[in-house]
Amino acid sequence: MIKLFYLLFIFSISIHLIYADGCFKFQVLNQFEICDTPGQVCGPGLFCHQSDTPVCLPLNPAGESCWNDNECAKGLKCYRYDADSFCADVYYKGYGEKCINKAECSRGLGCINGTCYASEEANCFRGSCPGSQYCNSTSTCNNFIEDGSRCITDDNCFPGSICVTDPKSGMSFCTKMNTVAEGLPCNRQDLCDISQNLVCLNGYCVVYNDDKSNAACNVSTACPLDKERCICNNIESTAGECTQTNMIGASCKTAKVEYYNCLKSSGCPIFVDNPDSANACVSKQCGKLKCTYESECIDPTSPDAQSSNICVNSGSKIIAMNSLIILLILLVLL
Ligand SMILES: *[C@@H]1O[C@H](CO)[C@@H](O)[C@H](O)[C@H]1NC(C)=O
Ligand SMILES: *[C@@H]1O[C@H](CO)[C@@H](O)[C@H](O)[C@H]1NC(C)=O
Ligand SMILES: *[C@@H]1O[C@H](CO)[C@@H](O)[C@H](O)[C@H]1NC(C)=O
Repeated sequence: MIKLFYLLFIFSISIHLIYADGCFKFQVLNQFEICDTPGQVCGPGLFCHQSDTPVCLPLNPAGESCWNDNECAKGLKCYRYDADSFCADVYYKGYGEKCINKAECSRGLGCINGTCYASEEANCFRGSCPGSQYCNSTSTCNNFIEDGSRCITDDNCFPGSICVTDPKSGMSFCTKMNTVAEGLPCNRQDLCDISQNLVCLNGYCVVYNDDKSNAACNVSTACPLDKERCICNNIESTAGECTQTNMIGASCKTAKVEYYNCLKSSGCPIFVDNPDSANACVSKQCGKLKCTYESECIDPTSPDAQSSNICVNSGSKIIAMNSLIILLILLVLL
């Protein structure tokens, strides 16, 4: 999977998406449909309301009561205040950012002397470290690891790099995303140079050939990673079909690199609780680039686009608007 999707997962794609028996179980549901089977996701603007019979309901706007974050519209979190909890634009700042109210700071941080602050610096948690640091497995903040140096998880590497395991040595190193050339080995998505239309298939970066798309599959690695994914034929099935989920090419790579370079140079805390808030540093500084990246690289029909509120939808709005303008121009000309 795309690292920062997990890392930023921050810009959290996916908790709903389940791999089982190799193929990717995935079904998009409409409002009021029952969402009780793993792999089922409620469509854009909806969430799965947990009850005796879970059903897809519209996400809650600011001020509506909630139990969990996933009930709130994009950019909002479930804010607990005394005995009350409601969706609100909160928890968008990270360690060291200026604050007036604790609600602005990610959970677990206080607003102390006007700064989001973790009192137990010696015992960090994800989100309690300064901008260019991560919290390691023994709860100490460390600087992000440079490319070429050893790492344990993607979170350890700078934005735009992932922790890649060398199958020979079993050791892992931070590696810049999408830089592996044609013919060289690969073992995951986000490695091959997508600007050259390369995908990871059968362990090597090869030029994508869509002749093979829609092939039957039953393991995720049977499909050309970075472009297609093995999606189960239906929610019960363990057999699937390689399905396009991503767009590749020069403009996707450029948009992706620009977005991650922005995150890296922004100095923003990366692991804040509410990175989608318009008030989050990452949104203010890199939000437009994120939208461009998502609309250049993610197929709007893919699970990632359908199951999380990424920007692909605003991308298609722009396209819709452009067609409207073209239509108006045509009408005027006629
Ligand atoms: C907050 O400011 C006070 C007064 O300047 C100082 O004594 C205290 O140590 C500061 N607290 C933190 C956590 O920096
Ligand atoms: C976490 O970081 C601290 C400080 O750099 C280091 O001493 C410790 O060994 C690290 N833990 C792991 C599991 O690498
Ligand atoms: C997966 O597909 C291959 C090729 O179609 C087939 O030989 C194999 O038995 C399948 N495995 C499972 C677990 O269905």
